[in-house]
Amino acid sequence: MSERLEDIAAAMMSAGKGLLAADESTATIGKRFDTIALTSSETSRRDYREMLFRADEAMKTCISGVILFEETLFQKAADGTPFVDVIRAAGAIPGIKVDAGAKPMPLFPGETVTEGLDGLAGRLKTYYEAGARFAKWRGVIAVSDVLPSFGSVKANAHALARYAALCQQAGIVPIVEPEVLMDGKPGDHSIQRSEDVTEMTLRIVFEELADANVSLEGIILKPSMVIDGKKARKASVAEVAERTVRVLKRTVPSAVPGIAFLSGGQSTEEATAHLSAMKAGYDLPWGMTYSYGRALQTEALNAWGGKPENVAAGQRAFTHRAKMCSLAATGGWKK
Ligand code: 13P
Repeated sequence: MSERLEDIAAAMMSAGKGLLAADESTATIGKRFDTIALTSSETSRRDYREMLFRADEAMKTCISGVILFEETLFQKAADGTPFVDVIRAAGAIPGIKVDAGAKPMPLFPGETVTEGLDGLAGRLKTYYEAGARFAKWRGVIAVSDVLPSFGSVKANAHALARYAALCQQAGIVPIVEPEVLMDGKPGDHSIQRSEDVTEMTLRIVFEELADANVSLEGIILKPSMVIDGKKARKASVAEVAERTVRVLKRTVPSAVPGIAFLSGGQSTEEATAHLSAMKAGYDLPWGMTYSYGRALQTEALNAWGGKPENVAAGQRAFTHRAKMCSLAATGGWKK
């Protein structure tokens, strides 16, 4: 018998734990490897991810689930153990990114709509059989003085809702990720602009989820924080926390079991500090944790540098950051 969606979601939100987003597409992991002058190949991608998934202490104490790219879901560690088994042995749940990426939206210059709905029901069945119990789909919302358009927010929210319904039908918890970009173009918007756009986006996302009959008790929301554009960063930690919580309280029903933030290009320390400030300073109706990609991995990637002799150093760096994020998820992180 399949597990209940609510139980999977509750396990994803286990106290002091969060999600490791290791679902970079082949193109994106290639860009990350470029920063350490490493060629991306099936083997180098395996070695890198094996380093993370075998960082036992971090995985067992700080990570409730791992979002994988399709290649990794079916990949084996160097000794032949399927990665799904390595992740499960650490007490974490395997998940899968199922969208096919944000593609230019026709007739909406500068905006994208995320593709991947065609054939998704069949793919979800295969992923479930392979061990995935949650999935992720990311809609991307561009911000400028004039963007986003209502049409693009609506199209992305609609796709998120269609995806979420398909997941729930397949016994998979959908992570609903509407990312309001902080590092898009021009990337100099104010925090007020971020607040307005995030509020509008979340409102429309929850309308679409309701229209699609999605059970809110069986989703995890993965939002961006309310934060000024990367090129205009000046908001304090307290301001980011206050505005983010305000918008979430206005738009996210308390039936949603968990909110797991993306880091979106914030520095590792910013992402840690913001989460901790929200957990420490506010009474929140939902669980709240991290679902970081770059903010959990950047230090580990740099310490590893693609060299086998640095695996232990990479794991130490990952473990340190995971512990800091875990502290933040309980509101206990201090600079
Ligand atoms: P970042 O934390 O690097 O934004 O990645 C999280 C993610 O899954 C984006 O889709």
